[in-house]
Amino acid sequence: MRRPLLNHRLAGLGTTIFAEMSALAVTTGSINLGQGFPDSDGPAEIARAAAEAVISGRGNQYPPGPGIPELRGAIAEHQRRFYGLEYDPGTEVLVTAGATEAIAATLLALVEPGDEVIAFEPYYDSYAACIAMTGGVRVPVTLRPPRFRPDLDELRAAITPRTRLILLNSPHNPTGCVFTRAELATLAALVCERDLLVVTDEVYEHIVFDGEHVPIVTMPGMRERTVSISSAGKTFSFTGWKIGWVMATPELVAAVRTVKQFLTYVSGGPFQYAIAQALRLPDHYYAGLRDGLLRKRDLLCSGLATAGFDVYEPGGTYFITTDVGPLGEKDGVEFCRALPGRCGVVAIPNSVFYDDAQVGRSQVRFAFCKRDEVLEDAAARLARLRG
Ligand SMILES: Cc1ncc(COP(=O)(O)O)c(C=O)c1O
Repeated sequence: MRRPLLNHRLAGLGTTIFAEMSALAVTTGSINLGQGFPDSDGPAEIARAAAEAVISGRGNQYPPGPGIPELRGAIAEHQRRFYGLEYDPGTEVLVTAGATEAIAATLLALVEPGDEVIAFEPYYDSYAACIAMTGGVRVPVTLRPPRFRPDLDELRAAITPRTRLILLNSPHNPTGCVFTRAELATLAALVCERDLLVVTDEVYEHIVFDGEHVPIVTMPGMRERTVSISSAGKTFSFTGWKIGWVMATPELVAAVRTVKQFLTYVSGGPFQYAIAQALRLPDHYYAGLRDGLLRKRDLLCSGLATAGFDVYEPGGTYFITTDVGPLGEKDGVEFCRALPGRCGVVAIPNSVFYDDAQVGRSQVRFAFCKRDEVLEDAAARLARLRG
């Protein structure tokens, strides 16, 4: 018998619902609120900086392996400016091909086959794939509606002698949960007590509407045991540029760099110059990003509520999780497959973000990083569901 082509660790991870839904959006001419990318580009001056870098020959050849010094300096400066954190740009910052590569390289560096990795589900889909690539074992701790708060007793119970690390994501995609300072303090104390590491994905750090973004690395004892990951895609609305970064102690960064150098070695040379400039944008840029998205959140939340969904208002990110139960629906996958035909809108079923698909079966996610008129049009179309 012929062996399957895909290695067994990745079996079952072949096709994503995103590709299916985006294709449906095109063939049906629907509004795509499925995938999380903005429909307008980031600041024109930053786009110009990237173009000028290309034209003037900056970054067109392999940049330095850890990233250009200008960008590593700007990342360290950003951490000091927003969180009072100190990182040495020479040894504690590594530029990656988006947060996606940062997550993959970090897990491949730190996880041995058989190690357990705890993550809060529903989770961003690359987590499951990356844990599978390491040969590690995924251990979910479930965030439950309506508020999706982390159950820290459940977390405590999930830790075993095989646990290597906790993979954290706050603000959290897809639920919009922003972990509170108190929740992070409890989590950090547990991590120190059990001698674990934390890998924290903070790509939505500047998209917080309720509460504040607190990096877990600011908690006592966490500087030595945290790998912090972020990227420019969401903060500056250039998701195609794929500039991300890792921040940690020199030892942890060296471990991640060892893997990263054989994944991509380097990427996005000219874009690195542009993002160095972007990170230094004045405070009103960051406030404007947040305020604009807050208005969009409210617009789509109210449209979805009017259309009859149960709406779980997100505290951060640009996603809204809903429940389709009140519309007489039980299954999010079926609902999402039919939605383009019914009213010309595309969404994503949250069940794909759960290990136990049954738990999130009736949840559906909508992205609101779209122009106001697109969201208004989508709300009007969704209102047709009420008949
Ligand atoms: C939670 C989370 N992490 C990481 C990423 C990927 O970031 P990047 O585009 O920088 O690779 C995304 C993108 O949707 C995300 O939602």
